[in-house]
Amino acid sequence: MKHLFVIAIVCSCVIEVRSVLCWRCSGKTCQRIVRFCPSDNTCQTTSITRSTGEINTTLIEQDCPQITQEVSFTSRLAFGSKSVKSCTGNQCNDETVADPSNRTENGLECYGCFASTSESCTKSEEKVKCVGQEDRCFYGSGTQSLASFGSSFFIKGCVTKNVCNGSANLNEFLVSLDAQTSCCQGNLCNVGSAGPLLCNRCSGKTCTPIPVLCPSSSRSCETVSLTQFIGNVTLRFTKETFNIVWTL
Ligand SMILES: *[C@@H]1O[C@H](CO)[C@@H](O)[C@H](O)[C@H]1NC(C)=O
Ligand SMILES: *[C@@H]1O[C@H](CO)[C@@H](O)[C@H](O)[C@H]1NC(C)=O
Ligand SMILES: *[C@@H]1O[C@H](CO)[C@@H](O)[C@H](O)[C@H]1NC(C)=O
Ligand SMILES: *[C@@H]1O[C@H](CO)[C@@H](O)[C@H](O)[C@H]1NC(C)=O
Repeated sequence: MKHLFVIAIVCSCVIEVRSVLCWRCSGKTCQRIVRFCPSDNTCQTTSITRSTGEINTTLIEQDCPQITQEVSFTSRLAFGSKSVKSCTGNQCNDETVADPSNRTENGLECYGCFASTSESCTKSEEKVKCVGQEDRCFYGSGTQSLASFGSSFFIKGCVTKNVCNGSANLNEFLVSLDAQTSCCQGNLCNVGSAGPLLCNRCSGKTCTPIPVLCPSSSRSCETVSLTQFIGNVTLRFTKETFNIVWTL
């Protein structure tokens, strides 16, 4: 009898801490349903804006807490942003429209273009003002269905740094960047798109980089970590072009 009583108390505590009811929906407007979340006491609202300049689309997603990062980019006409908000308590995520994207300029400027070829991108480029948390300039290519000019694309603009190290992507804005996306730090640092490539070279447990000129066939620098045979040796290379430090 004593045992049963103890178990009953333990269970009710666990349920109280570990569960919450959250609104769940996804889309341009929100047809909400209530969902039981086996998580802590928090619910989540994600707001996504994607724009081609002519058409702005906003989406709202409400759910149990999901692991996701805020991300934002701005190109010449196109931009996209995703913001994430958590709240505490049953059905606390009760908004029915997405939060507007943060278009407050943050002082950084980058070259911006978004076009089907590298040449047409460079020709049409203009300075763009970075907004919100966008703290890097970038240059990239890949496939897209955000704008109507075809699948392949080249892009320059502002981006949040989590896209630069591959921990976030632009897929929610219908933009899929290939692996050679380059980022740099500083006003208008994403000048040009080709040229002799300088990489930083270093080797060891800690890293004192020395710039080296790469063969013309190289398009990217690499960071390599080796942990075989000779202990923990780290080779680190950081991308550099036109005397600009490109950070991966
Ligand atoms: C799209 O959003 C941008 C930034 O908020 C704004 O400048 C632009 O006028 C909007 N376009 C339309 C068609 O609403
Ligand atoms: C929007 O971006 C600006 C510039 O980075 C920043 O100062 C501000 O705190 C942001 N606002 C919100 C609501 O995140
Ligand atoms: C990438 O950068 C973001 C933002 O600084 C950071 O939170 C994340 O841990 C980094 N991820 C990797 C894999 O380096
Ligand atoms: C070597 O790397 C392993 C795995 O990352 C780590 O656990 C270990 O502490 C490292 N050893 C030294 C000497 O740094």
